Amino acid sequence: MAQPLVLGIETSCDETGIALVRGLDLLTDVTASSMDDHARFGGIVPEVASRAHLESFVPTLDAALERAEVSLADVDAIAVTAGPGLVGSLTVGVSAAKALAIAIDRPLYGVNHVLGHVAVDALVHGAFPEEFLGLVVSGGHSSLLLVRDIATDVTELGQTLDDAAGEAFDKVGRLLGLPYPGGPHVDRLSKAGDRSAIAFPRGLSRAKDLARHPYDFSFSGLKTAVARVVEGYEDAGREVPAADIAASFSEAVADVLVTKTLNGCAEHGVSTVVIGGGFSANSRLRDLAAERFDEAGITLRIPPIRYCTDNGAMIAALGSAVLAAGLPASTLDITIDSGMPLTDVLAHA
Ligand code: KG4
Ligand code: ZN
Repeated sequence: MAQPLVLGIETSCDETGIALVRGLDLLTDVTASSMDDHARFGGIVPEVASRAHLESFVPTLDAALERAEVSLADVDAIAVTAGPGLVGSLTVGVSAAKALAIAIDRPLYGVNHVLGHVAVDALVHGAFPEEFLGLVVSGGHSSLLLVRDIATDVTELGQTLDDAAGEAFDKVGRLLGLPYPGGPHVDRLSKAGDRSAIAFPRGLSRAKDLARHPYDFSFSGLKTAVARVVEGYEDAGREVPAADIAASFSEAVADVLVTKTLNGCAEHGVSTVVIGGGFSANSRLRDLAAERFDEAGITLRIPPIRYCTDNGAMIAALGSAVLAAGLPASTLDITIDSGMPLTDVLAHA
């Protein structure tokens, strides 16, 4: 029998993403982004994002159906991001998903966005092994997960206690006078710098901190350290060595992420790591992970960047996994959950 056709809807932040997945086959994935509308404000404006989702929703849905050459009546189930994310943005997607579920009389699954960042890799690299670690790094999250089944068995090993990795890059971008979002600019600049020029702190990596927070991250102290260095040069009237700062800062972030993930693999006897989230575009993270995971004999899976930034395919993929696991559908009175915990794959009413 053919696998169910799942419509995935993602509107948790500034991307309206709609995709169609059958089993592990991605039929189509369409994304409309409102990032250009936010850039001039130096950050995402929630009201602007919500309005953009409203405007983009129907055209994005129509484009996805047309490209996949299916009609709404062919859809067997609808998966939508129920959280975590921005309240207004999530509300647009969940309301639209409920309306569609009623219109075509199909089950609705309100799913967890962060788990979607891991789930999507199965569409690209095939079914997951029995056990693996998932590292989700973006502007909003930095979490390390032990995954036995993405729909039914995920344990959060650790997460950031303050800034997310991408958020720290965006803040350092601002300190260095780069445009928003600063992450990709800091990354580009770092390539011209010396990674060992400045010994920036590795958060929660001293013996005492490691004992209490083996898999948690902290990037705010690092950001403050960067601010001090920049101020030091400015106060002395010297030119700020932006490339060296960017390279040394990137090294500190990548080093902590890779080291803690490797420690997790060793402790749990896991030999596969999946990295997801928009920050996985970071070139130093990619290079260092490739190098050190290879040395350790660990298989590294990172989906292409368009499936790492927010998209509909990740939500359709998780919906597909939830259906395959036979979990009950969400009721139509589910609410969005802007702080949805990783322990919940599905939203409750
Ligand atoms: O997943 P994403 O598109 O959005 C969410 O936050 O959910 O992630 C975007 C984040 C931003 O903070 C952006 O600056 C950062 O990831 N980012 C990067 C790079 N590309 C995106 N940070 C460092 N280096 C990059 N190449
Ligand atoms: Zn995301």
